[in-house]
Amino acid sequence: MFQAGLLAGKRILITGGGTGLGKSIGRRYAELGAELVICGRRLEVLEATAAEIHKEYGAKVTPISCDVRDPEAVEAMLDRIWADRALDVLVNNAAGNFIAQTHKLSHRAIDSVLGIVLHGAAYCTIGCGRRWIEEGQPGTVLNILTLSALTGAPFTVPSAMAKAGLVAMIKSLAVEWGPKGIRLVGVAPGPFPTEGAWSRLRPEGAGRKPAEAAIPLGRVGRHEELADLCAYLVSDKAGFITGEIIAIDGGKQHTGGGGVGTTEMLSWTDADWDRIRPAKKNS
Ligand code: HXC
Ligand code: NAP
Repeated sequence: MFQAGLLAGKRILITGGGTGLGKSIGRRYAELGAELVICGRRLEVLEATAAEIHKEYGAKVTPISCDVRDPEAVEAMLDRIWADRALDVLVNNAAGNFIAQTHKLSHRAIDSVLGIVLHGAAYCTIGCGRRWIEEGQPGTVLNILTLSALTGAPFTVPSAMAKAGLVAMIKSLAVEWGPKGIRLVGVAPGPFPTEGAWSRLRPEGAGRKPAEAAIPLGRVGRHEELADLCAYLVSDKAGFITGEIIAIDGGKQHTGGGGVGTTEMLSWTDADWDRIRPAKKNS
């Protein structure tokens, strides 16, 4: 469906690009000719992914350790990137999430998710936008959202709140930055199996129905399907699309349950919840 070299010449930062969907998106971008920068907290994970993608496609992939919750770390990362060459595209993909009864969340638990998903994406977006505007250069920001940003989802409330905040950011900045040639778009995935999401949202022994059960098309998403949509949206072929969110979910959003299907947890008892709650840290 895509021509070779579709993304040639584009320099793309993917936050959380060392694992899961971010890694799959990066592989497709590299295959289509892009140069990548990937960031996350664990440098060894990023380095392994960078080496793997370089080996597979010959693409230049730069791994940078950065906690996107820290605005100074984000600025230092962007300075380092720009010292080499400006970015063309930012993909806000890094996220934190877990299932929990909302009335039992500590402040730190709420902040940990809002910090990564909402603040982290805001720091990266505004840092890139400021540089693009100062240099009179166009740019594109793609945000990896979730269905629950559109529908809400019980038991993953900080994540749904944070991603819904990003919907507002996309729509607002599409207008404010449109005249400067900067596009903002989002994708809202339904369930796509990844170790990061599945281990936290579908924990072992929690008695969840198969994810497919709530999806009209009868299956979960394939990484390459999301990666192809993300390739199109950051390419020049999508140059007239901005302020738009596209769901990729097998029709799940229309069944009334957001995200990875947390509505079924309404029937869980407190004992069920206690069983999956991780042990508290000492600090
Ligand atoms: C209740 C929890 C908890 C849980 C952590 N906390 N896990 N509370 N239930 N299951 C609390 C801790 O007790 C602590 O509060 C606070 O949250 C911070 O926890 P830390 O472990 O110190 O935080 P940190 O090491 O910074 O890790 C951040 C994290 C973690 C978000 C908690 O899960 C993470 O690193 N996630 C990154 C990857 C990820 O989540 N991938 C899945 C994305 S899937 P106290 O008060 O005890 O100090 C996704 C799908 C969207 O986004 C669709 C959804 C519907
Ligand atoms: P994942 O593999 O756990 O990806 C999350 C990534 O974010 C990790 O690489 C992680 O790396 C990075 N990250 C977390 N906290 C960070 C921080 N503070 N600073 C920098 N990077 C950080 O999970 P995934 O399923 O691929 O999720 C990718 C995206 O898809 C997320 O936006 C998620 O909300 C979205 N999504 C996934 C699904 C699904 O079904 N999988 C559904 C809807 C939406 P480090 O831990 O090394 O920092």
